[in-house]
Amino acid sequence: MPFEIVDFRHRAQLTELMDEPCTRAELRACLRDLARLNRWFLAYRPILRWLGDVATLGPARPLQILDVGCGYGDSLRRVEQWARVRRIAVELTGLDLNPDAVAIAAEATPPTSKIRWVASNVFHWQPDKPVDVVVSSLFTHHLAEPELIRFLQWMELNSERGWFINDLSRAPIPYHLLRLFTRLVGLHRFVQHDGPVSIARAFVPDDWRRLCLEAGLDLRDIAIQPCKPARLCVSRRKTP
Ligand SMILES: C[S@@+](CC[C@H](N)C(=O)[O-])C[C@H]1O[C@@H](n2cnc3c(N)ncnc32)[C@H](O)[C@@H]1O
Repeated sequence: MPFEIVDFRHRAQLTELMDEPCTRAELRACLRDLARLNRWFLAYRPILRWLGDVATLGPARPLQILDVGCGYGDSLRRVEQWARVRRIAVELTGLDLNPDAVAIAAEATPPTSKIRWVASNVFHWQPDKPVDVVVSSLFTHHLAEPELIRFLQWMELNSERGWFINDLSRAPIPYHLLRLFTRLVGLHRFVQHDGPVSIARAFVPDDWRRLCLEAGLDLRDIAIQPCKPARLCVSRRKTP
C-alpha cells in the first residue's frame, strides 16, 4: 500500500491479508510473528494492569475471562501465567471466528494449561455460564461501524464485571515506524502489510466516544486511555 494515500483523519477502508483465505501453515507463521510483535511492544501490559484492579473486587470464585478474537492465544496464555503467579483463580476462554486460528492457539498451548479454545463468531456465541470480563486485543479494528456498536452492546450485556478493548491508536508516526520495523526485522509478509494497515484502520478517542454513545453507553462509565506504544484502550468497570 503506498503510504501517500493514507488519510489519518478517518479510519481507512482497507483489508488485511490475514482475513483472506490462506493455508493453516501461512496463518500459523503470521500469528507467531504477530505474537512476537505483541511481546516486543508490551501489548499485554494494559490488560494485565486492568485485570489486576478488577480481580481485587468481587465474589470469591474464579474470574471468568473471555478473550474475543484470540488469534494465536498469546494474550490468554500470558494472563494464565500472570494469574498463576498471583494466585488469582481464573477460568479462561479464547474465542475466534477462524477454526484454523483456534487450532493453532491450542497447539501453541502447553498441556498443563486449562484454557478453553472455541471456534465461533462472537455474535453467534452464547456463553454457557456468566462471563465476568470480556477482553480483546487487536480485534475491534477488524469490525465495521455497525458491528463495533453491536460488539460494545454485546460486551455490556454479557459481562458481569466489565470489559476491556486493547487496540491501536490511529496516527501517522507509528504507522510509518511499524512499516519500517516489520520490514527491517523481516517479519511475515502478512504482518508487514497488516501491521501498518491495522494502525490506519484503528481509532482516535473521538471515534470511541461516538461509538459508545451510539451503543447507548454512558460516557461517564467508560475510560478511553492511550497506552504506549501506539495503543488506545477502552474499558468499562462494573461494580459487582
Ligand atoms: C489481528 S487478530 C488478533 C489476534 C490476537 N488477539 C492478538 O492480539 O494478536 C484478530 C482476530 O479476530 C478474529 N475475528 C474477526 N472477527 C471475529 C468475530 N466476529 N468473532 C470472533 N473472532 C473474530 C480473526 O479471526 C482474528 O484471528
